Amino acid sequence: MDYAGYLKLRELLSLQTMESAKRGKPAHDEMLFIVIHQAYELWFKQIHHELDLIQDTFGGDRVNDAKLGRAVHAAERIVKIEQLLVDQIDILETMTPMDFLEFRDLLFPASGFQSEQFRLLEIRLGLTRDARLPFNEASYDASLLPEARKNVLAAEGRPSLRTQVNAWLERTPFVHRDDFDFTEAFRGSLNDMLVRERAHIERHALLSQSEKDVQIASLERSHKMFDGLLDDQAYAKLRAEGAWTFSRRALQAALFLFLYRDEPAAHAGFSMLKALMDIDETLAIWRLRHALMVARMLGRKVGTGGSSGYDYLRATADKHRAYNDLFAIATFLIPRSALPPLPESVRRDMRFGYEG
Ligand code: HEM
Repeated sequence: MDYAGYLKLRELLSLQTMESAKRGKPAHDEMLFIVIHQAYELWFKQIHHELDLIQDTFGGDRVNDAKLGRAVHAAERIVKIEQLLVDQIDILETMTPMDFLEFRDLLFPASGFQSEQFRLLEIRLGLTRDARLPFNEASYDASLLPEARKNVLAAEGRPSLRTQVNAWLERTPFVHRDDFDFTEAFRGSLNDMLVRERAHIERHALLSQSEKDVQIASLERSHKMFDGLLDDQAYAKLRAEGAWTFSRRALQAALFLFLYRDEPAAHAGFSMLKALMDIDETLAIWRLRHALMVARMLGRKVGTGGSSGYDYLRATADKHRAYNDLFAIATFLIPRSALPPLPESVRRDMRFGYEG
């Protein structure tokens, strides 16, 4: 075994072919452009490797406790990789728009739209076809090459991590028991919180009456979203409007885990939900940074893949999110001191058995 042989460096380092050099006009910055893109694809490969482990853990009828910690660790690793992917944009931005123009025309019609691993990442995390922004009236997979398209369509037919996490949350113990029904217990605390929030708005010295009306309407919408957690019909209506994507039972469990995360049995579940939010948020940060870089490189020019460029990419940072529900739940968080106390029987079941 030797270093170069193990890492197949001869092959790896021979894969950076500059189109501009092939045409006899080498553009210095094309090397950076290729290396950065290849590095991205390698890190995407590692993210998929971590997702294999996570989806294996969540894929069955039950999640093995012993494996849950490892899955959380893999999810946290994905977040660190995503942060690195965001930072790589700083390096690419050392290339000025005019340096980019030296070779940009040679790339048509190739584009990031054709990254199979990126599309697979979105799909595996839980972004569905119907939640995607329309793009030039073409379906998002139209620009993929046949082999990549086949793989992407196959991935759409398999359960995403979001679907698996939804099923796992639905099975969370402690939420509905004979001696304790979390949502019933919580309803009163939430109402108190909403009454307090309303009083804050009404008393606010800097808000005009019309601004207060807008904020109170938004508070009432939040109230309605919470009703969706308690009532089947209210939930069905909100789901049809796209307000919730997780099931009602899964949302109740997620809220329970956020609120009672100090109880030992809730630690790992809470950490997993937090890691999913971090993955989703860091990907949104990447989308935003990429969009801003595109604006700086191209201004209002269309992309090599034919999109509107900045406007489309900027909108994906808001819309192409897989775990919005977990963020929306924050609306219903209340201070620890206002939490309905768990009955002793539930607290006992949520403790580690060896506690003195
Ligand atoms: C000079 C640098 C870059 C420019 C000007 C640029 C430009 C664009 C544009 C305009 C699009 C929209 C599709 C189109 O019409 O072509 C796009 C999409 C995309 N780019 Fe880039 N890009 C750059 C660097 C990168 C890098 C380093 C990556 C890393 C993999 C990347 C990944 C992607 C992906 C995954 C998409 C699809 C995004 C989506 O549909 O949500 N781009 N890029």
